[in-house]
Amino acid sequence: MRLIKHGRDHPFSVKLGDIPGIKEKISPDLANVELHICACGLSKHKPFCDGSHRLVQGEENGKLYGYKGNERVEITKETFELLSQLPNEYE
Ligand code: FES
Repeated sequence: MRLIKHGRDHPFSVKLGDIPGIKEKISPDLANVELHICACGLSKHKPFCDGSHRLVQGEENGKLYGYKGNERVEITKETFELLSQLPNEYE
């Protein structure tokens, strides 16, 4: 089991022309093209944002959540202990 925590609720935005070593290799028209990189962990098209971060809006500070599809589940201590007991499907 691996628990990965993502705290950010919106993507990182990067302009192609700001990526070191890229600006010289692309046409000037593309320098201002903006990429949105997923930082919430929910995108189905990583590394790019697909708008799934909207699901994390409304999370309460100090609580831990898991997502299955579009469903949000609060991870309580009891839930965490149950999850910890599940076999690792890839072992
Ligand atoms: S930041 Fe993850 S889907 Fe947008």
